[in-house]
Amino acid sequence: MIERFGHGGDIWTAAESFGLEADSILDYSSNINPFGPPEQLFSILKQALPQVLRYPDPTCRNLRKALASSLGSYIQPENILVGNGAAECLHLAVSALTPRIVGIICPSFSEYEAIARQAGCEIRMLFTEKEQQFLPDVEELCSFVKQVDMLFIGHPNNPTGNFLPLSDLQKVAHACEQHNTYLCVDEAFLDFVNQAEKHTLVTVLDTLPHVLLFRSMTKMYAIAGLRLGYVIGHEQVIGLLKSKQISWSVNHLAQVAGEFLLEQHAYVLRTQEYVATQRAKMVTYLETLPGVTSFSSETNYLLVHVDSIQSQILQEEMAKRGILIRNCSMYPGLGEGYIRLAIKTKEENERMVSVLRESLQILSTGR
Ligand SMILES: Cc1ncc(COP(=O)(O)O)c(C=O)c1O
Repeated sequence: MIERFGHGGDIWTAAESFGLEADSILDYSSNINPFGPPEQLFSILKQALPQVLRYPDPTCRNLRKALASSLGSYIQPENILVGNGAAECLHLAVSALTPRIVGIICPSFSEYEAIARQAGCEIRMLFTEKEQQFLPDVEELCSFVKQVDMLFIGHPNNPTGNFLPLSDLQKVAHACEQHNTYLCVDEAFLDFVNQAEKHTLVTVLDTLPHVLLFRSMTKMYAIAGLRLGYVIGHEQVIGLLKSKQISWSVNHLAQVAGEFLLEQHAYVLRTQEYVATQRAKMVTYLETLPGVTSFSSETNYLLVHVDSIQSQILQEEMAKRGILIRNCSMYPGLGEGYIRLAIKTKEENERMVSVLRESLQILSTGR
């Protein structure tokens, strides 16, 4: 199984498994901006290259200042810790705040469970229903937080792509404050949502000392290989996370890229509009395929269910034609037939859907 290292986007394992060249794979299993990085990024990185002989700023001060001013007057640089991807920040939350019991809403990003297991935490899972588009019931969630020391929630959730309304998330955050439960809100894909600023707790974070917001710059700005993310929270909590971070974990090129990328507002808006249009088109295409159901998503990927076909078999059939999809059968709360598809360019999506159609036909008729 190519997800044996835990995630999508592993074109190297896929190339090894399916006998393909890694660069020839059209990757629908990781959810990266289809436009690639903003054009000028490479010349900015080239200019910064001679400085790699020095250690990077261990506190990312310029980037934290830029982030704080981009987030508005309620956030100061002391409320931010920059990490080697949002993944590092998520790990730091568990290692610094030492929860005994971690709550996970299923299905969700596999890293939450992996991090909690590595740290020896007890794990409690709250399962959601496909009839509710895999969204948790808010009252149930408010009661669930009493049982755990830390809860992870994807906002938007991965692999579903949807999220609770802000008023519901606020209820959950207040329940967490009441019960001293840390609420880790993973906003890695929020940048892709139209009017993202209307869906985040960032403006009320100063009243919520148990809430942490995790952001990734690798997806929107297509710099997954450079690694850059950050976490926003109360100054004291951020200090605890920082005390566990490996020195110089954010390299100089990533810091320089981050400062430049934060100014790319037009690129972000263009991406949001493009992704929304292509997502709607893809949903319409998928509706024409027999036995295929897609779930509601507001971001740059779709959770899809295919009747009577095993996810891995479908993945293999599509890989023979150069397209890598995410097998989601192993997610707790999902099972056979679930896959996840990224939203890419119009032309790539058309190719992917035609390969999906052909593969389904071959697998269902044997021809
Ligand atoms: C939901 C979610 N959160 C966080 C991350 C980690 O992002 P980063 O590349 O910034 O470490 C991922 C990566 O796939 C993700 O899917």
